[in-house]
Amino acid sequence: MQRERWGSRLGVILAVAGSAVGLGNFLRFPGQAVQNGGGAFMIPYLVAFLLLGLPLMWIEWTIGRFGGGFGHSTAPGIFHTMWNKARFIKYFGVIGIFGPIVIFTYYTYIESWLLGYSVFALTGRYEGCTDHAAMSEFLNGYRGLTSNQYFSSIGPAYLFFVVTFLVNVLVVGFGIRKGIERLCTWAMPALLVVAVILLARVFTLGRPDPSQPEHSVTAGLGFLWNPDWSKLWNAEAWARFQATPWSQPLKWAHLATALNGRVWLAAAGQMFFTLSVGIGVILTYASYLDRRNDVALSGLTAASANELAEVVLGGSIVIPAAFAFFGPALTLQASGSIFDLGFKTMPLVLDQLAFGRIFGFLWFGLLFVAGITSSISLAQPAIAFLEDEFNLKRREAATAFGVVTFLLCHLAIFGLGHGVVDELDFWGGTFCLVLFGAVETILFGWVFGMDRAWSELHTGADISIPRFYRWVIRYVTPVFLLAILTVYLIQDGLPLLRLQNVPPANRVPVLMTRIVLLLLFSVLSLLVWLAWRRRSEKTEVAA
Ligand code: ALA
Repeated sequence: MQRERWGSRLGVILAVAGSAVGLGNFLRFPGQAVQNGGGAFMIPYLVAFLLLGLPLMWIEWTIGRFGGGFGHSTAPGIFHTMWNKARFIKYFGVIGIFGPIVIFTYYTYIESWLLGYSVFALTGRYEGCTDHAAMSEFLNGYRGLTSNQYFSSIGPAYLFFVVTFLVNVLVVGFGIRKGIERLCTWAMPALLVVAVILLARVFTLGRPDPSQPEHSVTAGLGFLWNPDWSKLWNAEAWARFQATPWSQPLKWAHLATALNGRVWLAAAGQMFFTLSVGIGVILTYASYLDRRNDVALSGLTAASANELAEVVLGGSIVIPAAFAFFGPALTLQASGSIFDLGFKTMPLVLDQLAFGRIFGFLWFGLLFVAGITSSISLAQPAIAFLEDEFNLKRREAATAFGVVTFLLCHLAIFGLGHGVVDELDFWGGTFCLVLFGAVETILFGWVFGMDRAWSELHTGADISIPRFYRWVIRYVTPVFLLAILTVYLIQDGLPLLRLQNVPPANRVPVLMTRIVLLLLFSVLSLLVWLAWRRRSEKTEVAA
């Protein structure tokens, strides 16, 4: 069967940027930045971009194009072509199909709230909510967590979810060029235009309450852009580090605690999530490239476009607007949960503007489109796997994917109030990303070999990557990732397995979610096993 190909270079860059630019940029990033001290967050964030995000972007573009040359679009096949002596390696590749499916199951549900809210903005449905408490109630009623004066059932949310889900499956059903590329080619420029309009509106807010000097757009920008080194550094632990003799192993523990680990971890996690690296989607997109196509400049362009959307646009809308209307204290208080700023603060802010309904519609519409261009990329690995390894036609593969994930999404829809979405996000959107990122970096820099890897990355390249990155890819990125995994497993591994951090009322739903995820992983591993068995049978018959 003829492999699909991207229509143009711009098309693939926009599709990868579309995968990267999503809810992470406009909702998750401002929430993370506020929760982690603004200017303190930006330092580890930029370090994570240079040492984790960018190298992983290049690695995924390169190995994706390499695997595509052997007819594989997904991690099991790509890993196998990179290290065909190790039969087990394709099972590590299963993470690159499993992770995106898991994220897809809750991501599409959250995306559907945006569709709902864009309609509510236009129709003035939430206009009666004039403070955070009322907005919170509105959101909880909508999600079916309570029955209140705004919503008596989850019905409207379910309806918007079905529409969102169908749009996703339809787009991927049309394929790489006619579905994904076509959508991203108009959606990404449209996104930029809408974001710039909103940005211009926020920058002209001035000081809505002149008696409160802290309530201003510039105070919000200052919060994000004034580096606050003190929050990155624990002075007491540093003093303990200095006072402990080098012969004592405890000295290193003091050093580790001196570096405020939580902020560094949050920054690294945000970097993975926002760039869509470590998920398994970029390598799948890159597999539809031709071997002569550049990956070095394209990877850099896609990553930079995402950072522009996140730091410049995402960071300049929500936080400054919230500061202008509510001031620092309330903004910090309102960011208790990662989505609060986007769903609770922004509607309140936009409602106070002239043409508030239009701006509300634009805000949620922007987020919805950004979400769609990301969620279709999450669907692609599973569909490509069925096409490549089982010769299913695209429509058949998209239908099979649609049926299975539609059922799985119900875990997120009805388990939201019972910790299920957090559980899905932890495994699919956090743990698997770091693990998968570590596996692909080691494969690339150590198994594939750095000389070969570097030359593969530069095949057809339009730029020459600084040689410093050879060293980063081989040593810094894997050590950084393994350190994150090790520290995490030592500190939280056992409590995680024992469900210690889960409130007792949520233990059964969370446990059931884990069982479903385990089953899903086992089924995908079985499919990989079957695919390779079929392949070896065919080779024997041909011989
Ligand atoms: N990269 C996507 C986002 O930021 C998943 O939302």
